[in-house]
Amino acid sequence: MDREAIIAAAEQFVQQELGSDSSGHDYWHIFRVWQTAKKIGQVEGADLFIVELAALLHDLADEKLNESEAAGLAKVRGWLEAQDVAVEEVDHVMEIISTMSFKGGNKPGMRTLEGAVVQDADRLDALGAVGIARTFAYSGAKGQLPHDPQLKPRTDMTAQEYRQGKSTAINHFYEKLLKLKELMNTAYGRQMAEGRHRVMEAFLEQFYAEWEGQR
Ligand code: ADP
Ligand code: NI
Repeated sequence: MDREAIIAAAEQFVQQELGSDSSGHDYWHIFRVWQTAKKIGQVEGADLFIVELAALLHDLADEKLNESEAAGLAKVRGWLEAQDVAVEEVDHVMEIISTMSFKGGNKPGMRTLEGAVVQDADRLDALGAVGIARTFAYSGAKGQLPHDPQLKPRTDMTAQEYRQGKSTAINHFYEKLLKLKELMNTAYGRQMAEGRHRVMEAFLEQFYAEWEGQR
Protein backbone atom coordinates (compact mmCIF):
# COMPACT_ATOMS: atom_id res chain seq x y z
CA MET A 1 0.00 0.00 0.00
CA ASP A 2 1.29 3.46 -0.78
CA ARG A 3 1.44 6.13 1.84
CA GLU A 4 -1.59 8.01 0.59
CA ALA A 5 -3.68 4.86 0.89
CA ILE A 6 -2.43 4.26 4.44
CA ILE A 7 -3.39 7.81 5.44
CA ALA A 8 -6.84 7.31 3.88
CA ALA A 9 -7.21 4.02 5.78
CA ALA A 10 -6.20 5.76 9.02
CA GLU A 11 -8.84 8.43 8.41
CA GLN A 12 -11.48 5.72 7.97
CA PHE A 13 -10.32 3.88 11.07
CA VAL A 14 -10.62 7.05 13.16
CA GLN A 15 -14.09 7.86 11.83
CA GLN A 16 -15.26 4.39 12.68
CA GLU A 17 -13.71 4.43 16.17
CA LEU A 18 -14.76 7.92 17.23
CA GLY A 19 -18.18 8.07 15.68
CA SER A 20 -20.07 10.92 17.28
CA ASP A 21 -18.11 11.15 20.52
CA SER A 22 -19.10 14.37 22.29
CA SER A 23 -16.37 14.53 24.95
CA GLY A 24 -14.44 17.03 22.84
CA HIS A 25 -12.77 14.32 20.80
CA ASP A 26 -15.18 14.04 17.94
CA TYR A 27 -13.90 13.30 14.44
CA TRP A 28 -13.79 16.99 13.53
CA HIS A 29 -11.29 17.67 16.31
CA ILE A 30 -9.06 15.04 14.68
CA PHE A 31 -9.69 16.52 11.25
CA ARG A 32 -8.61 20.00 12.39
CA VAL A 33 -5.52 18.70 14.21
CA TRP A 34 -4.63 16.76 11.07
CA GLN A 35 -4.91 19.84 8.81
CA THR A 36 -3.02 22.08 11.24
CA ALA A 37 -0.30 19.47 11.79
CA LYS A 38 0.21 19.16 8.02
CA LYS A 39 0.57 22.92 7.73
CA ILE A 40 3.06 23.21 10.60
CA GLY A 41 4.88 20.07 9.44
CA GLN A 42 5.37 21.53 5.95
CA VAL A 43 6.75 24.80 7.27
CA GLU A 44 9.02 23.06 9.81
CA GLY A 45 10.26 20.41 7.36
CA ALA A 46 8.96 17.39 9.32
CA ASP A 47 8.31 13.89 7.95
CA LEU A 48 4.69 14.37 6.89
CA PHE A 49 3.82 10.67 6.80
CA ILE A 50 4.63 10.35 10.51
CA VAL A 51 2.96 13.68 11.30
CA GLU A 52 -0.27 12.75 9.51
CA LEU A 53 -0.51 9.28 11.02
CA ALA A 54 0.18 10.52 14.55
CA ALA A 55 -2.29 13.41 14.17
CA LEU A 56 -5.03 11.10 12.89
CA LEU A 57 -4.49 8.47 15.59
CA HIS A 58 -3.56 10.74 18.54
CA ASP A 59 -6.80 10.50 20.52
CA LEU A 60 -7.73 6.87 19.85
CA ALA A 61 -5.93 5.59 22.94
CA ASP A 62 -7.85 7.97 25.22
CA GLU A 63 -9.17 6.34 28.40
CA LYS A 64 -12.66 7.64 27.63
CA LEU A 65 -12.81 5.38 24.56
CA ASN A 66 -11.06 2.28 25.95
CA GLU A 67 -10.93 0.07 29.00
CA SER A 68 -7.58 1.62 29.82
CA GLU A 69 -4.98 3.76 28.15
CA ALA A 70 -2.74 0.69 27.73
CA ALA A 71 -5.56 -1.18 25.95
CA GLY A 72 -6.10 1.85 23.73
CA LEU A 73 -2.42 2.05 22.82
CA ALA A 74 -2.36 -1.68 22.03
CA LYS A 75 -5.35 -1.25 19.71
CA VAL A 76 -3.64 1.54 17.78
CA ARG A 77 -0.36 -0.40 17.56
CA GLY A 78 -2.23 -3.46 16.29
CA TRP A 79 -3.86 -1.41 13.57
CA LEU A 80 -0.55 0.15 12.50
CA GLU A 81 1.19 -3.24 12.43
CA ALA A 82 -1.48 -4.56 10.09
CA GLN A 83 -0.60 -1.81 7.58
CA ASP A 84 2.42 -1.67 5.37
CA VAL A 85 4.31 0.63 7.73
CA ALA A 86 7.97 0.08 8.68
CA VAL A 87 8.67 -1.04 12.26
CA GLU A 88 10.60 2.16 13.06
CA GLU A 89 7.69 4.20 11.78
CA VAL A 90 5.20 2.28 13.91
CA ASP A 91 7.44 2.87 16.94
CA HIS A 92 7.79 6.55 16.15
CA VAL A 93 4.03 7.11 15.78
CA MET A 94 3.36 5.14 18.97
CA GLU A 95 5.94 7.16 20.89
CA ILE A 96 4.19 10.38 19.86
CA ILE A 97 0.73 9.11 20.76
CA SER A 98 1.74 7.71 24.13
CA THR A 99 3.60 10.90 25.07
CA MET A 100 0.56 12.97 24.11
CA SER A 101 -1.86 10.90 26.14
CA PHE A 102 0.45 10.84 29.18
CA LYS A 103 -1.70 11.83 32.16
CA GLY A 104 0.96 12.27 34.85
CA GLY A 105 1.84 15.58 36.50
CA ASN A 106 4.74 16.72 34.37
CA LYS A 107 4.10 15.88 30.76
CA PRO A 108 7.30 14.62 29.16
CA GLY A 109 8.59 16.74 26.30
CA MET A 110 8.46 15.59 22.71
CA ARG A 111 11.65 13.92 21.52
CA THR A 112 11.23 14.42 17.80
CA LEU A 113 10.22 17.24 15.46
CA GLU A 114 7.20 15.22 14.30
CA GLY A 115 5.99 14.84 17.89
CA ALA A 116 6.51 18.54 18.52
CA VAL A 117 4.43 19.36 15.43
CA VAL A 118 1.48 17.12 16.36
CA GLN A 119 1.44 18.29 19.98
CA ASP A 120 1.41 21.92 18.78
CA ALA A 121 -1.49 21.18 16.44
CA ASP A 122 -3.47 19.54 19.27
CA ARG A 123 -2.83 22.53 21.56
CA LEU A 124 -3.82 24.97 18.82
CA ASP A 125 -7.23 23.31 18.59
CA ALA A 126 -7.87 24.42 22.18
CA LEU A 127 -7.14 28.06 21.21
CA GLY A 128 -8.79 30.77 19.15
CA ALA A 129 -12.38 30.77 17.91
CA VAL A 130 -12.53 26.98 17.74
CA GLY A 131 -11.00 26.68 21.20
CA ILE A 132 -13.63 29.08 22.59
CA ALA A 133 -16.41 27.02 21.00
CA ARG A 134 -14.99 23.76 22.37
CA THR A 135 -14.62 25.21 25.85
CA PHE A 136 -18.27 26.27 26.07
CA ALA A 137 -19.44 22.98 24.57
CA TYR A 138 -17.38 20.91 27.02
CA SER A 139 -18.41 23.10 29.93
CA GLY A 140 -22.10 22.75 29.15
CA ALA A 141 -21.76 19.00 28.82
CA LYS A 142 -20.16 18.91 32.30
CA GLY A 143 -22.93 21.07 33.77
CA GLN A 144 -20.68 24.05 34.42
CA LEU A 145 -21.87 27.64 34.12
CA PRO A 146 -20.46 29.75 31.30
CA HIS A 147 -19.33 32.30 33.87
CA ASP A 148 -19.72 33.07 37.56
CA PRO A 149 -18.35 36.50 38.52
CA GLN A 150 -18.21 35.45 42.18
CA LEU A 151 -15.70 32.78 41.27
CA LYS A 152 -12.32 34.46 41.26
CA PRO A 153 -10.17 33.45 38.29
CA ARG A 154 -8.06 30.60 39.61
CA THR A 155 -5.09 28.92 38.06
CA ASP A 156 -4.56 26.37 40.80
CA MET A 157 -7.52 24.01 40.73
CA THR A 158 -6.78 20.42 41.62
CA ALA A 159 -7.40 17.74 39.02
CA GLN A 160 -10.25 16.47 41.19
CA GLU A 161 -12.03 19.83 41.45
CA TYR A 162 -11.58 20.11 37.74
CA ARG A 163 -13.18 16.76 36.99
CA GLN A 164 -16.05 17.55 39.33
CA GLY A 165 -16.89 20.51 37.09
CA LYS A 166 -16.24 23.10 39.79
CA SER A 167 -14.91 25.44 37.19
CA THR A 168 -16.64 27.56 34.59
CA ALA A 169 -16.00 27.97 30.91
CA ILE A 170 -14.49 31.42 31.53
CA ASN A 171 -12.28 30.08 34.31
CA HIS A 172 -10.91 27.46 31.94
CA PHE A 173 -9.21 30.27 30.01
CA TYR A 174 -7.16 31.11 33.11
CA GLU A 175 -6.68 27.48 34.12
CA LYS A 176 -5.29 26.42 30.82
CA LEU A 177 -5.98 28.22 27.57
CA LEU A 178 -4.11 31.47 28.20
CA LYS A 179 -1.03 29.49 29.28
CA LEU A 180 -0.73 27.34 26.18
CA LYS A 181 0.99 29.97 24.03
CA GLU A 182 4.11 29.65 26.19
CA LEU A 183 4.19 25.87 25.79
CA MET A 184 4.41 25.76 22.00
CA ASN A 185 7.26 23.68 20.60
CA THR A 186 7.78 24.98 17.07
CA ALA A 187 8.31 28.51 15.77
CA TYR A 188 5.42 28.29 13.33
CA GLY A 189 3.11 26.74 15.91
CA ARG A 190 3.94 29.53 18.30
CA GLN A 191 3.18 32.14 15.66
CA MET A 192 -0.24 30.56 15.10
CA ALA A 193 -0.80 30.38 18.86
CA GLU A 194 -0.09 34.10 19.22
CA GLY A 195 -2.83 34.95 16.72
CA ARG A 196 -5.31 32.65 18.45
CA HIS A 197 -4.27 34.00 21.87
CA ARG A 198 -5.20 37.52 20.76
CA VAL A 199 -8.60 36.27 19.59
CA MET A 200 -9.26 34.89 23.10
CA GLU A 201 -8.10 38.09 24.80
CA ALA A 202 -10.40 40.16 22.59
CA PHE A 203 -13.23 37.74 23.31
CA LEU A 204 -12.74 37.99 27.09
CA GLU A 205 -12.60 41.78 26.99
CA GLN A 206 -15.87 41.96 25.03
CA PHE A 207 -17.44 39.31 27.28
CA TYR A 208 -16.76 41.27 30.49
CA ALA A 209 -17.94 44.52 28.91
CA GLU A 210 -21.22 42.92 27.85
CA TRP A 211 -21.61 41.35 31.28
CA GLU A 212 -21.63 44.83 32.81
CA GLY A 213 -24.04 46.14 30.20
CA GLN A 214 -21.44 48.24 28.47
CA ARG A 215 -21.07 48.16 24.67
P1 ADP B 1 -7.33 17.37 24.37
O1 ADP B 1 -7.10 16.03 24.99
O2 ADP B 1 -7.79 17.31 22.94
O3 ADP B 1 -6.19 18.33 24.53
P2 ADP B 1 -9.26 17.77 26.56
O4 ADP B 1 -9.89 16.42 26.60
O5 ADP B 1 -8.39 18.17 27.69
O6 ADP B 1 -8.53 18.07 25.16
O7 ADP B 1 -10.43 18.83 26.41
C1 ADP B 1 -11.29 18.87 25.30
C2 ADP B 1 -11.75 20.33 25.08
O8 ADP B 1 -12.50 20.78 26.21
C3 ADP B 1 -10.60 21.32 24.93
O9 ADP B 1 -10.97 22.33 24.02
C4 ADP B 1 -10.42 21.87 26.31
O10 ADP B 1 -9.87 23.18 26.31
C5 ADP B 1 -11.85 21.87 26.84
N1 ADP B 1 -11.89 21.65 28.30
C6 ADP B 1 -11.19 20.75 29.03
N2 ADP B 1 -11.46 20.84 30.35
C7 ADP B 1 -12.37 21.86 30.47
C8 ADP B 1 -13.08 22.46 31.57
N3 ADP B 1 -12.92 22.06 32.84
N4 ADP B 1 -13.94 23.48 31.30
C9 ADP B 1 -14.14 23.88 30.03
N5 ADP B 1 -13.52 23.36 28.94
C10 ADP B 1 -12.65 22.36 29.14
NI1 NI C 1 -6.68 15.91 20.74
